[in-house]
Amino acid sequence: MQHRVAILATLLTCAATAALMPVIAAEPAPPAAAKPDSQPQAAAAATKSLLPPARAYGDLSQERVNYGRYLTIAGDCAACHTRDGGKPFEGGLAIDTPFGVLYTPNIRPSKAHGIGEFSDEDFLRALQHGIRPDGKPYYPALPYPSYTKVKDDDLLAIKDYLFSLEPTSYRPPESQMRWPFDMRDLLFGWQLLFLDKERFQANPDKSDEWNRGAYLVEGLGHCGSCHTPRNIAGAKEHKEALTGAIIDGWYAPNLTNDLTEGLGRWTVEALATYLATGEAPPAKAGEGPQTAALGPMAEVVHDSLSQLAASDLRAMAVYLKDRPAQEAPRTTPPVPHQLTEETYVKGRKLYASYCASCHQSHGQGLPPYFPALAGNEVVTLERPNDIIKTLLLGAPSDPSQAYSAHVVMPSFGSIFTDKQIATLASYIRANWGNDAAPVTPDQVAALRSDG
Ligand code: HEC
Ligand code: HEC
Ligand code: HEC
Repeated sequence: MQHRVAILATLLTCAATAALMPVIAAEPAPPAAAKPDSQPQAAAAATKSLLPPARAYGDLSQERVNYGRYLTIAGDCAACHTRDGGKPFEGGLAIDTPFGVLYTPNIRPSKAHGIGEFSDEDFLRALQHGIRPDGKPYYPALPYPSYTKVKDDDLLAIKDYLFSLEPTSYRPPESQMRWPFDMRDLLFGWQLLFLDKERFQANPDKSDEWNRGAYLVEGLGHCGSCHTPRNIAGAKEHKEALTGAIIDGWYAPNLTNDLTEGLGRWTVEALATYLATGEAPPAKAGEGPQTAALGPMAEVVHDSLSQLAASDLRAMAVYLKDRPAQEAPRTTPPVPHQLTEETYVKGRKLYASYCASCHQSHGQGLPPYFPALAGNEVVTLERPNDIIKTLLLGAPSDPSQAYSAHVVMPSFGSIFTDKQIATLASYIRANWGNDAAPVTPDQVAALRSDG
């Protein structure tokens, strides 16, 4: 759940640069984000995936509340509005930020503790405009910059489902944002600059399937809240939309059709399979899965995407594959990378002892269990964040989120030094036809202390 931290932190930085320059300059450097718990409990994760069934009530048919439940899964609302060990939608999940701690609200229908007093208008204003019933803004940790694209009736179906649940009397702790970030009015400046409050507009030149995919990706799926560089989050049709971003130390890759780091080499089918199962099927017969969802993406697949209809996942894949290639802004010029003799020898030894039993001697992986490391885009991304995080934390980083293969990769964070992880990562990034820059022990140290 820690990735939400980065979203908020960066969004607040935007608010800060927009409205707070003098204040920021006068403030001492913000302290590092508090270290969140990196291994949410398995039990809690399991509860999250099982949303309470919808029950018909009042004038509302079973069909209507079921529809609302489905959209609630597509919006992944439970992921944030459920604390470890709590009931779904009861809130209380702590979101640590360098500016203080936010607790997600209880969004069950209790009048005293939840959103039981929200009218339809209140609900729409919250999710499409980021405004509270009392007129104050919400922090964009609630992804209203994406939800604002969602149709009124779909959001109200979500409200209908939430109102079909038992109210509970759990009251999340008060948020503790530090001055001046506790002043919600500052967010008006952010909203003015970055919030484009337009509902989704269908493109008449494209198929229904494409438009359904676009609607889900840009709206409820809020893919851009992690995959779009956040300094421009919410800005309309920006050329950097979905070109990849760092989120809590992980790198959420480019989702445009770019050939080197994007989805250019994926087929629609492979992409739809990945969204459904967290694993892209092998590119060639006899090879391991092409890539696997690891950290934050494993959560998204587990809590939300794996429970959606195949037709919706395919629609998202069709839309994503049709977006023009857009290169992620590079931080270093591309040069051919060669392993030094020392890295090669040490890396090969470590690999043979610790990795080859699963990923196989030439990094070819083993279907259907172990992803290939040769020719794997996650391995060769310009930013080596994901490979480092995987070695530090294992994969998926929360083992309760393992899906099809039933095998998890152990974490090596406590076994290896920063230097050994750097050596191994450099070795697999530039061997078996891979050609990506070496990883330094400093890069590993930075992500290790990140939690
Ligand atoms: C990434 C985390 C995240 C996701 C996903 C998320 N929310 Fe929230 N939500 C928050 C946070 C944080 C707040 C409180 C913001 C604040 O206090 O300014 C919030 C506030 C709300 C509120 C206002 C409650 C009140 O008492 O004022 C409602 C309603 C709400 N969310 C509904 C939803 C729905 C419906 C979804 C799914 C479509 C959803 N949220 C998904 C984080 C999230
Ligand atoms: C909470 C943040 C978050 C959200 C929301 C999110 N992603 Fe991701 N995604 C990531 C991260 C981080 C990675 C890479 C590391 C990993 O697997 O966790 C990733 C990886 C991926 C990959 C693999 C890319 C590759 O080249 O290997 C695809 C495809 C993808 N996401 C699609 C989506 C789609 C489609 C959505 C919206 C429905 C979405 N993501 C929403 C964080 C997110
Ligand atoms: C016990 C078997 C096992 C061992 C040992 C193991 N891995 Fe893995 N590895 C996996 C599995 C399974 C996955 C996919 C996890 C998932 O589905 O989330 C994976 C994923 C990865 C990934 C991410 C690939 C992708 O496409 O997302 C990398 C990189 C990786 N391993 C490197 C290593 C290295 C380097 C070592 C040696 C230090 C190693 N692994 C040892 C089983 C293993």
